[in-house]
Amino acid sequence: MERRTLGTDGPEIPVVGMGTWKVLDVGPELAEQRQRVVTAALEAGTTVFDSSPMYGRAEAVLADALRDRRDEAFVATKVWTPDAAEGLAQIERSLSWFGDRVDCFQVHNLVGWRLHLPVLHQLRDQGRIGMVGATHYSEAAFDELAMLMRSGHIGMIQIPYNPRERTVEKEILPLAQELGLGVLVMRPFGEGSLLANPPHPETLEPFHEFGVRTWPQILIKWALSDPRVTAVIPATSVPDRMTANARAGRAPWFGPRERRMVAQLAG
Ligand SMILES: NC(=O)c1ccc[n+]([C@@H]2O[C@H](COP(=O)([O-])OP(=O)(O)OC[C@H]3O[C@@H](n4cnc5c(N)ncnc54)[C@H](OP(=O)(O)O)[C@@H]3O)[C@@H](O)[C@H]2O)c1
Repeated sequence: MERRTLGTDGPEIPVVGMGTWKVLDVGPELAEQRQRVVTAALEAGTTVFDSSPMYGRAEAVLADALRDRRDEAFVATKVWTPDAAEGLAQIERSLSWFGDRVDCFQVHNLVGWRLHLPVLHQLRDQGRIGMVGATHYSEAAFDELAMLMRSGHIGMIQIPYNPRERTVEKEILPLAQELGLGVLVMRPFGEGSLLANPPHPETLEPFHEFGVRTWPQILIKWALSDPRVTAVIPATSVPDRMTANARAGRAPWFGPRERRMVAQLAG
């Protein structure tokens, strides 16, 4: 698994991680099965995990799955509330789940960022948080995200990027590169919509020489072949899929021709 630096000042992380939205928001009846996905991720070197208090039980299920292996993981979670006191409670709760250390704390969808950033910076200075960042899924918020990026208050961003969602190519990715910010890519499969009608396997043969055979692997490699991207965090509830997704995190990367072909196949 290739590793890249998360922003100029950040740590090296593997280029494929795991999202936890929906897939780890489960009760006791499914928790053990989903924890096998986390174990599959760790075994494949996919040690970046992204969560949020917005994802219900996901942080708790992730923390339980990592209990003996917390040191191997890079945990990125979020604060998600317009209320300062609730924000503080969310942050402390997350810290307590992950051994009093969160490697990357993000403001989820920019909610209440002016309130939360001073708290997160203080915790970073105390060493309880590694990096501070911000996320947004909607292009309607990209002007505000760009403003925050320019402010110098964050070291990374998390944004959607797949062949059907490319708005970030206009301003956000060039700005991240200029400022030396890390970039995590959410929704590499468009929340699964890009996988609903996959291209015929024969049309994927030109990509075999790049070490990828399946459509999900090709979509992951499409995003990672943009050098401004640090890592991609696909979510899955199936251990074998996690293992297969991780295999897309190795060179050789696609050139402009292959990226164009993938975009055409994605429609
Ligand atoms: N605003 C924000 O901060 C924000 C917003 C959205 C997402 N995120 C983060 O980004 C992560 C990823 O985005 P996402 O969960 O929305 O969508 P995604 O990763 O684009 O797609 C997830 C879907 O793909 C399927 N899938 C994954 N690997 C597969 C494979 N190898 N073969 C077939 N199907 C596969 C999964 O189904 P199965 O479970 O059946 O495999 C799941 O339904 C989230 O989990 C979350 O951590 C953050």
